[in-house]
Amino acid sequence: MRISVIGCGYLGAVHAATLASMGHDVVGIDADAEKVGHLARGFAPFFEPGLEELLAEGRATGRLTFDTDMALVADCDVHFLCVGTPQSKTSELADLTYLQAATRSLAAHAKAGSVVVGKSTVPVGTVLRVRSWLGGTHVELAWNPEFLRQGTAVKDSLVPDRLVYGVDDGDAAAPSVLRALDEVYAPLLHAGVPQIVCNFATAELIKSAANAYLATKLSYINAMAELCDAAGADVTQLAAAMGLDPRIGQRYLAAGLGFGGGCLPKDIRSFRAQARELDVDSVDAWMGLVDSINVGQRSRVASIAAELCGGSVSGRRIAVLGAAFKPDTDDIRDSPALDVALRLGEAGAHVVVTDPKAINNAWMRYPQLQFEASVRATCEGAELVLLLTEWAEYRKLSPDDLAHIVARPVVVDARNVLDRDEWRGAGWTVRGLGTGLQVPEAAVSR
Ligand SMILES: NC(=O)c1ccc[n+]([C@@H]2O[C@H](COP(=O)([O-])OP(=O)(O)OC[C@H]3O[C@@H](n4cnc5c(N)ncnc54)[C@H](O)[C@@H]3O)[C@@H](O)[C@H]2O)c1
Repeated sequence: MRISVIGCGYLGAVHAATLASMGHDVVGIDADAEKVGHLARGFAPFFEPGLEELLAEGRATGRLTFDTDMALVADCDVHFLCVGTPQSKTSELADLTYLQAATRSLAAHAKAGSVVVGKSTVPVGTVLRVRSWLGGTHVELAWNPEFLRQGTAVKDSLVPDRLVYGVDDGDAAAPSVLRALDEVYAPLLHAGVPQIVCNFATAELIKSAANAYLATKLSYINAMAELCDAAGADVTQLAAAMGLDPRIGQRYLAAGLGFGGGCLPKDIRSFRAQARELDVDSVDAWMGLVDSINVGQRSRVASIAAELCGGSVSGRRIAVLGAAFKPDTDDIRDSPALDVALRLGEAGAHVVVTDPKAINNAWMRYPQLQFEASVRATCEGAELVLLLTEWAEYRKLSPDDLAHIVARPVVVDARNVLDRDEWRGAGWTVRGLGTGLQVPEAAVSR
């Protein structure tokens, strides 16, 4: 099939490369000429494990091309809309201006009978707006929300947990739309990936509700972490024991600095705004609490840092391990780690940040912070070390080696991933979140 993918960011670039690897002819369209230039040469414009290999494969077979010119979609049978839907600058609502612009531009070129498939995460009711933006164009419409996770996006696209097809239940053309989607995803369907066919509103809500549930689980365990700290309990043991119940499960049950990135935070806020518009107070209140617990973790870590520095971080050298919003990505959108680093910098600390992949992005966005490529240079002379993004290499750091570099061996493990006994054995004071451990008075710098 000849397919276009419009918007080639973290979602669209992976989707385009995956479709090409399934044997389709794919043209990726993006408004960002620099991004397109990278992709067209086979380079990933961002770090995503496995993407560059797929791009190279697509380029070698000739099945994958990228361009800025929307006219090139004219002969495509299916068009995937993958542009961003960030939080509006003035409210909690999703900003749909990119989606509107991309849809209008697509409408001018899409051939009659082709199928426009939305993949971006949108508030319920958006598909009907997309239909109006398509105007009188004789195309069909479907919504196929995406569930890939950055860091495992390639694997998630090649072996998704499910495929959701949102179609217009009153539309006589729905069978042909379903046939087109089945043809696009034939290898996945043959491999047994479950398929859910539903109406537009359900498809839109499935994505929002899934993200709201994940956010809820994370904020729930972070609330438990606060309780554990107050009661002298250990949230890591509590979560491990809870998660052994298959009805609960271990995943998304790790207490720590909380979630960030380009999806969960803006998605729960948009969900909240939708609930308000629909007069569903329970979801509004619920999402508000989930959001405030999550954001509260950032101030909590900043307060712990101040506490460990004797009440103020002003003038203190603080090493921050991690800038990406989570491991295995270079994405710094709404990064909890950088949020904490900025708060400490604003409070007068000399903050030095490192990250295996995200330094360039972080430095371009926040030149006021100091960045170092190595953990050693970052921690040299530090009075406090904060582990804020749980990259695998930070879990494996040698506490013995690091103890000789820092000015004071005190670490805040804001992801609860370090082997506390090993670090303590090497002379470190370790403070986690919800680990119920009192910091000895001697470890507080005055
Ligand atoms: N990133 C994820 O892990 C993920 C997962 C599931 C769903 N989503 C959803 O997918 C959508 C895209 O997210 P993302 O993370 O890829 O965002 P992104 O910002 O990385 O990518 C969006 C791309 O769209 C391009 N674009 C904007 N307007 C355009 C236009 N008019 N024509 C052509 N290109 C245009 C931008 O240049 C950018 O490259 C969002 O709705 C997001 O919520 C993202």
